[in-house]
Amino acid sequence: QPTTNRLVIHADQGRYTISRMIYGHFAEHLGRCIYEGIWVGEDSPIPNTRGIRNDVVEALRRIKVPVLRWPGGCFADEYHWKDGVGPRHERPARINTHWGGVIENNHFGTHEFFDLCEQLGAEPYVAVNVGSGTVQEMMEWIEYITSDSRSAMAEWRRKNGRQAPWRLPYVGIGNESWGCGGNMTPEYYSDLYRQFSTFVKNFSGNRIYKIACGANGADYRWTEVVMQRAGRHLDGISLHHYTIPTGDWGRKGSATRFGEDQYHGALRRALEMETLVRRHGEIMDRYDPQKRVGLIVDEWGIWTDVEPGTNPGFLYQQNSMRDALIAGLTLNIFNRHCDRVRMANIAQMVNVLQAMILTDGEKMILTPTYHVFEMYTVHHDATLLPTDLTCADYTFQGQSIPGLSVSASRNREGVIHVSLCNLHPEQPAELQAELQGARVNRIQGRLLTADSVQAHNTFDRPDRVRPVAFDGAQPTERGFRVTLPPRSVVVLALQ
Ligand code: AHR
Repeated sequence: QPTTNRLVIHADQGRYTISRMIYGHFAEHLGRCIYEGIWVGEDSPIPNTRGIRNDVVEALRRIKVPVLRWPGGCFADEYHWKDGVGPRHERPARINTHWGGVIENNHFGTHEFFDLCEQLGAEPYVAVNVGSGTVQEMMEWIEYITSDSRSAMAEWRRKNGRQAPWRLPYVGIGNESWGCGGNMTPEYYSDLYRQFSTFVKNFSGNRIYKIACGANGADYRWTEVVMQRAGRHLDGISLHHYTIPTGDWGRKGSATRFGEDQYHGALRRALEMETLVRRHGEIMDRYDPQKRVGLIVDEWGIWTDVEPGTNPGFLYQQNSMRDALIAGLTLNIFNRHCDRVRMANIAQMVNVLQAMILTDGEKMILTPTYHVFEMYTVHHDATLLPTDLTCADYTFQGQSIPGLSVSASRNREGVIHVSLCNLHPEQPAELQAELQGARVNRIQGRLLTADSVQAHNTFDRPDRVRPVAFDGAQPTERGFRVTLPPRSVVVLALQ
């Protein structure tokens, strides 16, 4: 007897806001993310504004990037900010020891990052160096960025071309301090966090939200120790979770040439985010029942083998319809847990891991993941509407995952948006939805799907996977019914 797919949307129970910061991004000095993907330099033939490429900024503005984390990643814990200010030709060359051992010329530094954020309309989120930096270095950076005084740091910023201080709302204190950021124990890190965070000062009216380094996936002990020892000194604690299709970091699997085993495996591992968010949240609840502290998932996404022939240290991978489904189901998880998840940053923005945009010289393409972020902008700062979903499983070789994924919200104009993913690669899904506390008169829909889960956009075929209008949903007396095509992401607007 096949399970009937049923959804109840509690339109009468909205309580929490889906922070638009959940739709945040991450750009590291890694491979071709910053250099080429964003920064081409003022003398480049690629159209740019003060060295930042216009096509990429224009595309990113369409997905309303709310916040951008920089400069890493592992790179953050070897980054010395003073290398990246002042005349560019005088900036020192360093070795990027984490990512390919290439030369970092420091042409993209603090001023260029804040310029990028202003061009995007995004909030800056700076990860400071704890692993190989000092408290003084961090203090001076924050003073340089935010102080309106006549202090030496503020004057140096002015000399380097920026009169007014910038606003710096988010600071991350160390990155993956359990790994590339220093291989620390949670006990040691908690003490270091307390020390560093004491000197994160609020200058000239700027107010900083302090984010501690959190766990690697299911390392619940890390969260426990940091919350217990440093919980009252922090505003947010991070979580990193990457989806490895095979589950094996040594042979992760290809981004575009995979069978159903790696398709199902990738979705199954991406869905683990639900458990991670819930269980880390339960630990946080014990130390912070008022939910003052945010869970900040500041690195997430699918991580595959690099494209054949590319530098393994550059983490350049293609992006398929599978990635779009991973984005859709993960963002649905974050939406549903927005009482605790206050920010998330997909890794990474351009040319690295699960990117929004891929570039090749002056050419640029939008990935299926980009389109999901664009379709889901309707959830930004909307009120979460709780949902109950009963659905058939999608089973492969004895392993089962729910066949559907959903979240719903109501925006300020009263429009209800429902984002749905049909994870089954071949079968459509019929869904009956009931709305409690609202009526549906009219439905508009958008659909992202493709002829296969491996389908992706290339520089020769940039529009193979892109959203189209969708009319597969109809109002019913109690809500609506919809037929979701196989391997699809659908966003419905109910009025
Ligand atoms: O996003 C790539 C790397 O993954 C980051 O630098 C690091 O924080 C994580 O291990």
